[in-house]
Amino acid sequence: MKILVTGGLGFIGSHTIIELIKNNHEVIIADNLINSKIEVLDKLCQITGIKPAFYQIDVTDEEKLTEIFENNKIDGVIHFAGLKSVGESVSKPLEYYYNNLVSTMVLSKVCIKYGVQKFVFSSSATVYGDQPSPLREDMELKKTTNPYGETKAMSERILTDTVNANKDFAVSLLRYFNPVGAHESGLLGEDPNGIPNNLMPFVSKVAKGQLKKLSIFGDDYETVDGTGVRDYIHVVDLAKGHVKAIEKLDSGVNIYNLGTGRGTSVLELINAFMKVNAVDVPYEIVGRRPGDIATCYADADKAEKELNWKAELGIEEMVRDAWKFEQQNV
Ligand code: NAD
Ligand code: UD1
Repeated sequence: MKILVTGGLGFIGSHTIIELIKNNHEVIIADNLINSKIEVLDKLCQITGIKPAFYQIDVTDEEKLTEIFENNKIDGVIHFAGLKSVGESVSKPLEYYYNNLVSTMVLSKVCIKYGVQKFVFSSSATVYGDQPSPLREDMELKKTTNPYGETKAMSERILTDTVNANKDFAVSLLRYFNPVGAHESGLLGEDPNGIPNNLMPFVSKVAKGQLKKLSIFGDDYETVDGTGVRDYIHVVDLAKGHVKAIEKLDSGVNIYNLGTGRGTSVLELINAFMKVNAVDVPYEIVGRRPGDIATCYADADKAEKELNWKAELGIEEMVRDAWKFEQQNV
């Protein structure tokens, strides 16, 4: 297939492009570089031997997006482009709603105009809100706690209504759990601007000595050791899930959790990082972070049954690859 990947130079998009190319798909990238670097294109070429066509455009720009569809016979799209910082979404709600919702609407509109049936969307486990894990795709969604989460819930609704009104349009809503890790080459990984908010990039920077110590947000949750439990998934496993999802997609709205189905606590993750990488990660326990929940992990059975996909890499590979990338690049 010829697949348009929006946000293809970002963390998850770039890893997905490698897996698409490995599976003999042709890739076109649209990215405005708001949270990525053009050098990623060369790294993709280094890893795959292929340099995909790249368009530096904003996906909210209907005219520029239309040009791509005019000039290419596209079979499907994977829509990663979006802003993703929870904290920033609270201080800049309009930017988040505009970017994440308008990009989704414009892209689906252009897909329908050009008869492109397959649309894969990057959603998030955040749409489940605070309810008991394991989280299943058929659970009712609960209110999210921030504008970023709302953009994911709203995008899911917009795409669902659009499929209901257009029988030739099909959507896969992929709810990611906590993507971490990096490509085994050490060339690609997660490189957030400024001080990281998420656990794994923060841990990597502490291990490197760039940040003094990690603050663990609470040790009084009802979990195995009192710290928060999440379903960390290696970004390469996540990328493979996208290939399966777009290859399988033929009609309707299809929702899949992409997680491992296993929960890991903050302390378990830090201990694995120190042991596997033989480095020290100083930490202290501080108060809970507002908006955090105790536990969040997937029921991953549906993706296994219907997509024949299942995460294969464990916490050891995640911490190993995150550290390798940190040492080589950031
Ligand atoms: P990322 O920021 O690394 O990648 C997103 C890419 O989209 C960047 O390259 C950015 O430049 C581009 N982009 C943003 N807005 C754009 C626009 N209007 N037009 C063109 N390009 C635009 O993020 P990521 O971690 O790779 O996440 C990809 C998607 O998955 C996002 O939609 C994100 O919300 C979603 N998601 C991420 C996580 C996570 O933990 N990383 C979890 C759940 C869902
Ligand atoms: C966060 C977002 C979620 C988003 C996801 C993307 C919030 C409230 N939620 O999820 O919407 O989809 O990122 O990956 O921001 N922790 C520490 N110290 C730190 C950082 C994190 O103890 O410095 C803990 C957290 O309390 C949590 C766990 O580590 O228990 C994971 O945190 P994080 O990586 O930020 O992800 P989530 O909170 O699950």
